[in-house]
Amino acid sequence: MKGIILAGGSGTRLYPLTISTSKQMLPVYDKPMVFYPLSVLMEAGIRDILIISTPADIDNFKKLLGDGSDFGIRLFYEVQPSPDGLAQAFIIGEKFIDGEACAMILGDNIFHGDDFGNILRAAVVDAENGMSTIFGYRVDDPQRFGVVVFDEEGNVADIEEKPANPRSNYCVTGLYFYDKDVVGHSKTIVPSDRNELEITDLNRIYLENKSLKVKLLNDSFTWWDTGTFDSLIEASVYVHEYYKRTGLTINSPEQVSFEQGWISKEKLLTLATRYGKSPYGAYLKKIAERGSV
Ligand code: DAU
Repeated sequence: MKGIILAGGSGTRLYPLTISTSKQMLPVYDKPMVFYPLSVLMEAGIRDILIISTPADIDNFKKLLGDGSDFGIRLFYEVQPSPDGLAQAFIIGEKFIDGEACAMILGDNIFHGDDFGNILRAAVVDAENGMSTIFGYRVDDPQRFGVVVFDEEGNVADIEEKPANPRSNYCVTGLYFYDKDVVGHSKTIVPSDRNELEITDLNRIYLENKSLKVKLLNDSFTWWDTGTFDSLIEASVYVHEYYKRTGLTINSPEQVSFEQGWISKEKLLTLATRYGKSPYGAYLKKIAERGSV
């Protein structure tokens, strides 16, 4: 199973914050934003991950994350020359995917909820067996997203991209687990009115083929698409509050790697030292010394 983090785009909704830096590098409390989606793929057990970003930003991702060995994983990098749509990631990643099943997470999506590891691992097993999974989440402003349409029996009948009159409050989050046909299907998509290869069109193909599960995330879940000033600060406050309450930071890739048994206690202590006087380094030291949490 392969994984992609799509971390490009123009970020204009966050100007001037994103004039000279990538949105996915902005801080969310104690870590760069991209750490959060990275740790989600790692929690799913995925160790081969492709990062796709803009020509201007890709080198900063390499500088931050390297070849992945610090996280016990392998990281690869590709450029998306212009933001031509989310589904284009699978065409850019064709060689990397190499005929396997592939997950994708958007670099600005943050997830936190009960039993997420088991939910993710089930989606991996399904994708490897030809059944793809996307995740629905209840929101008050569904018109900003891809929206799930249900029939009278509660089955998923359709998915609509940013409908003016949403037919449910369930949006499609930016986390997708597809089977090995994902590259082939992506190549059949034609650009939309906004001239993008839409992920919603890809999801519709799977839906028509009856090989798409829409897993609704329950109320224990918190999810943000951190593409606005408000969601960015709300996510930071959430991570901070959670840390104050529990002494734990959420979505730490170093911690996930340690808990997966991918890096040793010694390696985690080395990483903690590299972060100098940062409380995030102190946190990793505590995790290493406890053995786990
Ligand atoms: O966040 C979930 C939503 O993401 C879904 O509900 C929608 O179905 C899906 O279309 C997408 O909607 P957005 O309006 O949030 O997409 P946006 O164009 O903002 O892009 C999402 C992220 O992906 C953003 O961080 C920028 C990055 N991106 C976007 C495009 C179009 C790329 O890296 N490359 C691209 O070509």
